Amino acid sequence: MSFTAQLDALRQEALKDLAAAADLALLDRAKGAWVGPHGKFTALMKQLGSLPKEEKPAAGKAINTAKVELEAALAARREALELKSALPKEPTDFTAPGRRRTVGKLHPLTQVTEDIVRCFRKIGFVVADGPELEDEYHCFDALNTPADHPARDAQDTFYIGGAAPQPLLRTHTSSVQIRVMKSQPPPIRIIVPGRVYRRDNADATHNPTFQQVEGLYVDRGVTAGDLKGTVEFVFRELMGPDTKIRFRPHYFSYTEPSFEIDFSNPLVKKLGKDWLEIAGCGMVHPQVFENVGYDPEVWTGWAFGFGIERIAMLRYGITDIRLFYENDARFLRQF
Ligand code: DAH
Repeated sequence: MSFTAQLDALRQEALKDLAAAADLALLDRAKGAWVGPHGKFTALMKQLGSLPKEEKPAAGKAINTAKVELEAALAARREALELKSALPKEPTDFTAPGRRRTVGKLHPLTQVTEDIVRCFRKIGFVVADGPELEDEYHCFDALNTPADHPARDAQDTFYIGGAAPQPLLRTHTSSVQIRVMKSQPPPIRIIVPGRVYRRDNADATHNPTFQQVEGLYVDRGVTAGDLKGTVEFVFRELMGPDTKIRFRPHYFSYTEPSFEIDFSNPLVKKLGKDWLEIAGCGMVHPQVFENVGYDPEVWTGWAFGFGIERIAMLRYGITDIRLFYENDARFLRQF
């Protein structure tokens, strides 16, 4: 048999074989048998050198044509088999009922935040917002917190690194007080729900990120009585009409005087306690007003801040703060 006749016979056989491969593994096997290093087609190509000189050009051309053809057949079969393997094995039943997409729920912390916002809206507060990536000026300096204050310790604050004013993750929402007061004249009546960050190790009552609500009220003739009345109203709305609150003297650099707020209700009693510390607050320090360009002889105000998780934990009887951040659907579905 002449070389080209041999070639043609082999070519036809190879094409049939490749086209018949029933899956990708069988196709790979067929590929090896024909065009692999020890394949029959490869072996034939090796014979080219031993042909008489005058037959070589025609034989070489025929080999190249056949090679291109085999490669195309291989690629076409591969594509067809890949498509086939990607299709469902079972036939589709177009009459089957549709799959319902489950409706999601608001995260319990979002639900509690929305409740808090609703309470404050009733008495004329609006929501304000500020960046979580803050700087030392808004988080500390302008709030009258000096550079040697322990709150600024790198042990407690996530510093991001960078040029002054040093970027950091805000440790409290109080920084937004400064941003709002710098951007508008009084009167101001805002709350600021938002995420804050501290370098705490996570345990049942600590998490390196948590949520706070800040409040700020600035006007003429604002008193601590307004503060107490407001806090009492909001906590009764949130935690039930039998909620009691009390103020204890405390220290914050941005308020003077400052207080810590304790509250009490049947949920607290259930924990075996009389009072639970829930928030910090006070009358805005005159130096803070100076820092934002408000005249402290004209304007008075109060501010407060509290954690949202603590309220959510009490309300729902949750004993580990980390559950809020694990995003386990089995936990989240319950609220
Ligand atoms: N920033 C305080 C904290 O994170 C809470 C706080 C206390 C906010 C007193 C205030 C305030 O606005 O007046 O613990």
